[in-house]
Amino acid sequence: MRFTDHFIQEVLDRTDIEELIGRYVTLKRSGANLWGRCPFHSEKTPSFSVSPAKRMFFCFGCHAGGSAITFVQKMENLDFPDAVELLATRAGIPLPQESAQGESGGISRRRIFEMNLEAARFFRSCLFDRELGRDGMQYFRTKRRLSDATIKHFGLGFAPNSFGALTDHMHKLGYTDEELIAACLCGKSQKTGRAYDYFRNRVMFPIIDTSGNVVAFGGRVLDDSKPKYLNSSDTPAFKKSRHLFALNFAKNYASEKMILCEGYMDVIALHQAGFENAVATLGTAITPDHARIFSKYTQRVIISYDSDEAGQNAANKAMRILGEVGMDVRVLKLANAKDPDEYIQKFGADRLRLALEESKTGFEHKAERILSKYDVSIGTDRIKASNELCAIIAEYSSPIEREVYMDAASKRIGIPVDVLRNSIEQIQRRRHKVAREKESREAQASLKNYGDRINPEASKNPRATTAEEAILGLLLIFEEYRNAVERGEVPLCREDFVTEFHRRVFDAVMSMHARETGFSPELLGADFSPDEMGRIQKMVVARQQLQQNGPAVFRSAVEVLQDVAKTSAAKEGDLNAQIAYLREKQAKLHKGKADKT
Ligand code: CTP
Ligand code: MN
Repeated sequence: MRFTDHFIQEVLDRTDIEELIGRYVTLKRSGANLWGRCPFHSEKTPSFSVSPAKRMFFCFGCHAGGSAITFVQKMENLDFPDAVELLATRAGIPLPQESAQGESGGISRRRIFEMNLEAARFFRSCLFDRELGRDGMQYFRTKRRLSDATIKHFGLGFAPNSFGALTDHMHKLGYTDEELIAACLCGKSQKTGRAYDYFRNRVMFPIIDTSGNVVAFGGRVLDDSKPKYLNSSDTPAFKKSRHLFALNFAKNYASEKMILCEGYMDVIALHQAGFENAVATLGTAITPDHARIFSKYTQRVIISYDSDEAGQNAANKAMRILGEVGMDVRVLKLANAKDPDEYIQKFGADRLRLALEESKTGFEHKAERILSKYDVSIGTDRIKASNELCAIIAEYSSPIEREVYMDAASKRIGIPVDVLRNSIEQIQRRRHKVAREKESREAQASLKNYGDRINPEASKNPRATTAEEAILGLLLIFEEYRNAVERGEVPLCREDFVTEFHRRVFDAVMSMHARETGFSPELLGADFSPDEMGRIQKMVVARQQLQQNGPAVFRSAVEVLQDVAKTSAAKEGDLNAQIAYLREKQAKLHKGKADKT
């Protein structure tokens, strides 16, 4: 739904941006602003700033920026209305009455949660139905050795072998085909355009978020047919890169550590065996978003992936991603079992507990994998092992960690610590150089606006782009410039803007200025994406210090735009266009003067 400006203002007034962002980022005060490490890109030194006075944030590294709403949008991956709704709920502001269906025809998250809950109830009742659910129940109880308590705890279910069972049931409850398809509970028939059951003849795993909403489903076949698992695609209520299976339970057992598995059944088996801090990603590799979720709940993660090559490679990647948010990462080694589920079935919970206690730190695990490949009593092997070990030690930014690992490596392969240290420092210097070169290449590219997704026309019009940014930055900050433009005291209109993105910003700024509710850049978020908001914020931040020189900068930027227009018209040899342009300008100036008198 579209909220009124007034409502959004109220939400922003009642949101403490410092407290909000402080829940995700450790902030330290310096001057008027607060600083921390940017949650939107990985960095070692803080370049992320929050201005409580202006109620805005901005990262000088990746140029993310905007209001509290933009922050929530980016952080929680929500669209503008959902972010407003979340902040409103947080601040205890009742939402204006809404129809269940969004104005745009889009289907609201709440509606999808409702449908999913009904579907979960339906699947569960099918599983517990003697007839319908016989195969599913047999599978869970006998094949997977789940207790009835576990089956109920996880809300497991069964989707009957039918194209219409769920669809018919949901129709009776008043949900439309369109809604069922949007929730990914149904597919859309190519022939008839009608909805049909997406999950058929599968045992069902509801995925529940930390607020208790059923956000999606996974379904597994009962035999060896393919695909083994079917998962809901992303919907407005579900992004698989942002959800962890069983986090709704695990978050309450997470204070010391969490266990990260590959699959639903591993997690369920672990919970049943008393390890209620286990979660899994949902048919995807772990993402930085997942890593941030872990860092919200715990210090230590034990990666418990499959013991095969693919699982171990995935574990290496997970280690890096979790390491980047400062997690203490361990890796579980499972001897003689392919995954935690099988390990518990074979050896029991107590053996697993021991294995968890013996889980290796990231370095130990990686070092072991390297050493297992080589025979260090042979010279050439020793060199290879030593090179690979130095390469992984060089990745640690803490000198203490490096010393500890060097010491261990030296003892293990019999090469003096000093020799290893030299080699590690060399690797680090090389990496720094490569990183610096990459950074400077990127900086140059961004200077030239190559590959600018937000304003794709920028690279073709560098001179106009710079002028437009100056003008918009000043218009956004200072009311007097907006007044001057509105009254026609400055020869500037939307057609003067060369790049489409800036023209849109100009329109939005001037129409907000004309509105009675008052000017507040935060409201631009309704019409601009979070990335675009970052760009807008960047224009503001760069001009905030321009108190004194502002008018001169503004004037010359406007002149640049006029000059660009003239030369481009002249270049095209289109005299008529130029005349028309000048006429229009003059008319506008006249009108402005007339308005004033
Ligand atoms: N997965 C998936 N789609 C597939 C196969 C797997 O989404 N076709 C995801 C599921 O989330 C699954 C996880 O990857 O839980 C792990 O898959 P796999 O190792 O193949 O399965 P197991 O968890 O061992 O499944 P099971 O024990 O049920 O055979
Ligand atoms: Mn398994």
